[in-house]
This record gives sequence, structure tokens and C-alpha cells, in this order.
Amino acid sequence: MAGCCEVLRPFLFEYDTPRIVLIRSRKVGLMNRAVQLLILAYVIGCYYPHFAEVEIEWVFVWEKGYQEMDSVVSSVTTKVKGVAMTNTSKLGFRIWDVADYVIPPQEENSLFIMTNMGQPRGACFHLFFFFQIPDKTTVCTSDANCTAGSAGTHSNGVSTGRCVPFDGSVKTCEVAAWCPVEDDTHVPKPAFLRAAENFTLLVKNNIWYPKFNFSKRNILPNITTTYLKSCIYDARTDPFCPIFRLGDIVENAGHSFQDMAVEGGIMGIQVNWDCNLDRAAALCLPKYSFRRLDTRDVDHNVSPGYNFRFAKYYNDFAGNEQRTLIKAYGIRFDIIVFGKAGKFDIIPTMINIGSGLALLGVATVLCDVIVLYCMKKRYYYREKKYKYVEDYEQGLASE
Ligand SMILES: *[C@@H]1O[C@H](CO)[C@@H](O)[C@H](O)[C@H]1NC(C)=O
Repeated sequence: MAGCCEVLRPFLFEYDTPRIVLIRSRKVGLMNRAVQLLILAYVIGCYYPHFAEVEIEWVFVWEKGYQEMDSVVSSVTTKVKGVAMTNTSKLGFRIWDVADYVIPPQEENSLFIMTNMGQPRGACFHLFFFFQIPDKTTVCTSDANCTAGSAGTHSNGVSTGRCVPFDGSVKTCEVAAWCPVEDDTHVPKPAFLRAAENFTLLVKNNIWYPKFNFSKRNILPNITTTYLKSCIYDARTDPFCPIFRLGDIVENAGHSFQDMAVEGGIMGIQVNWDCNLDRAAALCLPKYSFRRLDTRDVDHNVSPGYNFRFAKYYNDFAGNEQRTLIKAYGIRFDIIVFGKAGKFDIIPTMINIGSGLALLGVATVLCDVIVLYCMKKRYYYREKKYKYVEDYEQGLASE
């Protein structure tokens, strides 16, 4: 009980009030100013490397402490150009243009370019009664083994309930399915449309910063029609040309186009519109960068790439519905537009000056700790800093 009071007494019955102690010491004085200077340097300015050249700017500026910020609003349209020719035994001589390899014809901020194709097996293209390739689940000995109407998630069709000979003595359950059953066992290599490497992609991007009512597009005002017809993006020579060679996009991200074309994948085209709108609008320029977005693990290469199936339907001379099934492998290009713009504004400026000044208080705390706890003469300073005053009556009594 007494111990409790010992703790509570100073808390309840004592009051401390700050008083100013002026320490006339060169060491302490200089230390205090040095710490304040460091904090001021952090708040106001520092050096930072900016794209190889070293600029001196206020940190205040770097962190845009004096600016109102806004995020970009954007719209993207794309256009691909390029024609390829293939000549295979299955499909014969074929020409592939934009309408064939861009699927679907238009998408939002994204486009898929087919670079490879699963090859159909057999020559039939209609609804057909078909035996299955024998494996554990499809082999049968009599009709009793095959349940009519059942369909496994991995089978190509619906079981008819009949057990039919496949090859010699082996029998499999018959299925009703679209014919031909696709050959899913191997991916054609090299890629069927490997010429897509030389196709070009035009990205048209309009951006808007609503807070500042600032809009711009990536086809810059100084780009002429003739330049746009012939240029290809290159980070060093043509950094503002909005036309990209597909092969360059993949190589810029550190991958091989021909490898990626076989099983497909996803590429990100990043457009960065970070702008300081206190400067001229002409200095607000897009920066392009490229990244492969589907991760490719060398050790765990299960279900790699990107593919999907689609069919084209038509009627033959007899009026039967037929279809051509295409398993498309390809590269999806996602165009990711991001950025922030800033412009001078008085409110964030005041807030940041205020918080900067508050940070200066750290210098006092630091110097107090050093003077009162770390220095050799700490007892002397402590004695000077704290003055113990008794309650008025007690003080009179003790005198
Ligand atoms: C792309 O174009 C270059 C130069 O015209 C040519 O040498 C190369 O073979 C082409 N690539 C493909 C995959 O066709």
C-alpha cells in the first residue's frame, strides 16, 4: 500500500513546468545547430540522381510537398500491322492478316495476338460418333462399362453407352463429340506464326488529369504523319514513337520472342505519365517500359503460357453444321497506363512547412538526451536544469 503511494505521490502531488536553461557551451551549442541543420537539409533540400544527371532540387520539390497531386485517367486504342504466310501440309498455303491473328478484334487496354496453333487431328469437322483414345477411364469390355450420357471433365464428348473396338482387342467407350478430337499432346515448335516478331503495334493513348484539366496524347504535337509512318520505338533513338515492334517489346523485357511465341504469355506495356505541371506542358512526356507479366518458373513449369480455344462454324453443302476448332496460343499485350501529376498549391505547402518545423523539435530532444545522460558533466547540467521547489508553506518552514 505504501509502495503504491510512493509511486502515486509524484504523479498526483507534484507539478513540473519547463524553464529555459541557457547552456553556455561551445560543444553543446554547435551540436544543437548541427542537428538542426541536418533536419533542415532533410526537410528542404538534398541531392538526388535523376536519370544519370545530378540535379539539385529541394526535397520539398522532390517529394512534391508543395503540390496538389492527381492520378491519371486514360484511354487506349491499338492497331496492329503485319502479314504472314504459312505453308503446311495440313492447312496448305495460307495468308494471315490482322483479322486472322488478333482475337477478338478489339479489347480494352489489351490485345491478343495469336502466334501458334494447336493442329487438328483427322479430317472430319462435324458432330461425330467417336471412339476414345484408350486410357484407364475409357477402356471397356462391354456396353455395361459405359454409362450413356456421362461425361468426364477431361473427355472430349458425351458417352453414348456403347463399347466399340478401338484397335484389335482393345475396346473403348464411344462418345458423341465434335470431330476431330483435338490433338492436345504437343505444341507445335517452332511457333506457327513466328513471323509475328516483325509485326508492329501502334498504341494510341489519351490521358487526362481532371484536377488540373490537363489532357495530352502520346502522339506528341511535333510528330508528323511521315515520321509516324516510318518510325519504330527505340528507347535510345525514338523514345516517343508510339509504334512498337512485337519482337522488341519481348526482348526489352529480357525474353526471347520465339520462345514465348510457342506457348504464349502475357506482356505488359507500361506507359508512365509522371508530370510536374509547374513546368511547361511540353515537358509532360510518356515513358514506356516493358515487362513480362506471366511468371515463368524454370523449376515448376506446369501449365505454362497462355492459350484458349475457339471455333468457326459453317454449314457444308448438305446443310450439316460443321466447325473448325482452333487452339490459339499467343501473346496478350496489356497496356498499363499510370502516372501522377502535381501542381503548386498553398494548402499542401503550409501543411508541409508546419510538419517540417515540428521535426526541428527532434533536435531539442536529442540534445537534451546527450547533455543530461551521455556527457561527462551530465550531473552538473542536470543539477542546473532541474530546480526542486517545495510547497510554499513547507519551503518557509525549512528556511
Ligand atoms: C523479321 O525481319 C527481318 C528483317 O526484315 C528478317 O531478317 C527476319 O527473318 C524476320 N523475322 C521473321 C521471324 O520472319
